[in-house]
Amino acid sequence: MNANTVTGEFTFTDAPAHWADKADKSFSSLHQLSPYIGKLKPNIARELIVTYTQPGQLVVDPFCGSGTVPLEAILTGREVIASDSNPYAFVLTKAKLSPPASLTDALSQLEDVYEKSTGRSDESFISAPDWVRSFFHPDSFRELIKFADECLESRNWFLLSCLLGILHHQRPGFLSYPSSHLVPYLRDKKYPKSEFPEMYEYRALLPRMRAKLTRAFKSSTESPTSSCVVKKSSIEGLILPGMVDAIITSPPYMNALDYRRDNRLRLWILDRSTQDYFTEPTDKAKGLETMVSSLVNHALSSLKPGGIVILVVGETVIRKRTKTHPSRSYIDALLSTGIFRLISAIRDNIPDIRRSRKAGAATKAEHILVFQKIDDQDPSLSNLSQAGAAVAV
Ligand SMILES: C[S@@+](CC[C@H](N)C(=O)[O-])C[C@H]1O[C@@H](n2cnc3c(N)ncnc32)[C@H](O)[C@@H]1O
Repeated sequence: MNANTVTGEFTFTDAPAHWADKADKSFSSLHQLSPYIGKLKPNIARELIVTYTQPGQLVVDPFCGSGTVPLEAILTGREVIASDSNPYAFVLTKAKLSPPASLTDALSQLEDVYEKSTGRSDESFISAPDWVRSFFHPDSFRELIKFADECLESRNWFLLSCLLGILHHQRPGFLSYPSSHLVPYLRDKKYPKSEFPEMYEYRALLPRMRAKLTRAFKSSTESPTSSCVVKKSSIEGLILPGMVDAIITSPPYMNALDYRRDNRLRLWILDRSTQDYFTEPTDKAKGLETMVSSLVNHALSSLKPGGIVILVVGETVIRKRTKTHPSRSYIDALLSTGIFRLISAIRDNIPDIRRSRKAGAATKAEHILVFQKIDDQDPSLSNLSQAGAAVAV
């Protein structure tokens, strides 16, 4: 790693070059179940897990998003508690951590759930708002919403996640009119109906779901043997056991990403009660303060002495009223407790392909901050100074 010069006593190092590599075939195809903004790369998650934890240890991700850290943790033999306040994150993480035993099993579940869904009433179809309907041919929409309702009722998170993964895109294997894949925007100007009529036709659900399941099982999906718990909870309400070995997580990228607005179509499928999916990101300086103190109060207190905290913090463009860089806030909050030391700080540039927007307020780089809880019983740890207090961010 090259030292990346910053003022102060502690330097950020550049991320190792291989972090920029594409995840190879040794990574589970379950990582690709459905897209998620601000998702961590599986190879980075795995490297952090195997470097800082041991098999059998308990790893917690309280902002699990699409479940990248929990899936890698479980596949490398760690026990896991994953949690997120977003229903889409909860469903996706549940699906990745407890998939059907085999492709045959998944295909059989598909036929069964689909068959049941055809007997459902048109109620959800009729009551859907216009902005949701605008994405689909009416016959595709009627079919998919009944199928989604059947998955919700039978709590089949895996089929539901696969459905969300093929919900919108411009490719033929997806269910919507031409639109973007990550954040839902119709692409009817780029692909007008007059020139591309085939993109506006009915899209049958079953063959697309079968193809999706086959892709999901492309890599072997051995069932994890270690235990995992997935919760739908905000960090403020999260209750953890007192013996956590490591917290490895990416807190929300305040000011840059909005997990409700940017996931709105998938969230509407999961929870039809939210009124406003279109809020713009505003100055969330106060939100960041709450997030930092909640993490310190609710999660870090559950960590064992000597335990590890790894925070992947989005380096956002600092807005007018946001005076402090998010990393600075996390570093100050942890070091001021007097029981943590900073043992590593890495800066990783995010290529355009992983950003939700290509310019403006989007996150440009991530800081990976590794802290260790000081162990009074272990002199080699308790004598350490508060390294990192002078990190410039
Ligand atoms: C940067 S994303 C995590 C991405 C994840 N590492 C992945 O690979 O997909 C941050 C997550 O924090 C969640 N979040 C935001 N506010 C939260 C809160 N108060 N409590 C719990 N989760 C929250 C968001 O829903 C989002 O999924």
